Amino acid sequence: MTNLTLYDSFDWTKFLQEYWQNKSGIFNDVLKEPLATPEEIFEGLLKVAEQYYQDCDKPTTSNTIERSRDGEQRIADIKFLTKKSRIIGDLHEYMPTRNDSNLKNYSKRLENVFGGTYLLYITNFYYYMPDAWRRTCDFLKNLYQVAGLPADYTDLELFIGTYPLTAGGIHRDRSSNFHFVVDGQKTMYVWPRQEFWKEGTPEHLKSRKLDKMHLNEYLEHGIAYKGQKGDMIYWQPNYWHAGSSEVYSASLVIAVNMNGQLSKLFVQGINNILKNKTINKIPAIELNKTFAQEELPEDFVEANQKILSDDKLLNNIRLSWLQHASNFGFKYKLKPRETVNILDTSEVVFSAFSSILCLRENDKIAIVSNGHILSFNYCREVEKLIEIINLKESLKINEIFAKILVSNSNQSSTIEILRNVISKLYSIYSLEINTQS
Ligand SMILES: [Fe+2]
Repeated sequence: MTNLTLYDSFDWTKFLQEYWQNKSGIFNDVLKEPLATPEEIFEGLLKVAEQYYQDCDKPTTSNTIERSRDGEQRIADIKFLTKKSRIIGDLHEYMPTRNDSNLKNYSKRLENVFGGTYLLYITNFYYYMPDAWRRTCDFLKNLYQVAGLPADYTDLELFIGTYPLTAGGIHRDRSSNFHFVVDGQKTMYVWPRQEFWKEGTPEHLKSRKLDKMHLNEYLEHGIAYKGQKGDMIYWQPNYWHAGSSEVYSASLVIAVNMNGQLSKLFVQGINNILKNKTINKIPAIELNKTFAQEELPEDFVEANQKILSDDKLLNNIRLSWLQHASNFGFKYKLKPRETVNILDTSEVVFSAFSSILCLRENDKIAIVSNGHILSFNYCREVEKLIEIINLKESLKINEIFAKILVSNSNQSSTIEILRNVISKLYSIYSLEINTQS
């Protein structure tokens, strides 16, 4: 696959040797095209607003668009932060509308609403922006080839606003951060390592707790990266850091959390077996009674038996791992897009960032790509289709079928199955379909 995003002059090998998990830096020769333009970010924000209008419980004290009710997916966290606090409650009036026209105007409106200073921070922003997601994958593939996939997750976060200091002030995260200034100017202040405080902090500051909200006291002992539109600032986990945007800026941050809990995939595998079953209550323990093993609530005993007697546990864990690995470390898979009409002359172009994976289990075949698991009844032709797609050559639909189908077989039903698989793979962004008129 051609390198869509990076400048040839950006030296990944040097970056990985010198900077990755080791030190901070600013780079101005990384991306040929931004992860997202201000126009795309504005469109993404309108989708966030749409989601907020759909999800928001009214009246509510909820301050996010995240959903936490049983069985519902928690997607993004949206925070409007002012000088002193996070806005809670109804966020309708702060959401963008078409009347704002563009990102800068929208930001201007928020500045006015919040008295000149505000920060809008959104996690998992890629969920609303498939193009930005694609460019982020393109960027990350270089990193992952050497550093491996994050055992935890990668996020694409949006920061937009005008603020003298990041809400919360100087802080540390556990992620490696690739901070791209997409619009305006922004300064990131970093203080390398905790040891820095021992070595580089003057005596009169050592004796007291870090004054997180007063940047000025520590400025001369840190590093200031003044980012312009197009620049990337990198800093490694556990660096103390704070951002400052005295004038309007918009940034996209790829935050890579490498360290994850080993148990996570097991939990996911068990969830698959139990079909994410929830229970609405468990019986209360009778007072003055000794708790014995047989008194585990019936639901737990049943679930335990199901897990232990299920020979599919390893398979489910394997599937969870494939799902995680195929999703480029992102927490959430993209929402499937609407499918398109597939003609015999349509051209299929491979667009997944890693091979499409298959896992056969008896009469079923699971196809895993971009974090999605597609399940079909097993047939050799489906397996063959994936093998052909994974060759990553552009082919017309009729050429693909000619490679797969044996004459005299029941072609029409097989063609229907293959079309269905291609259509589903398109909807999860694993391939593109070019239909020329
Ligand atoms: Fe941070």
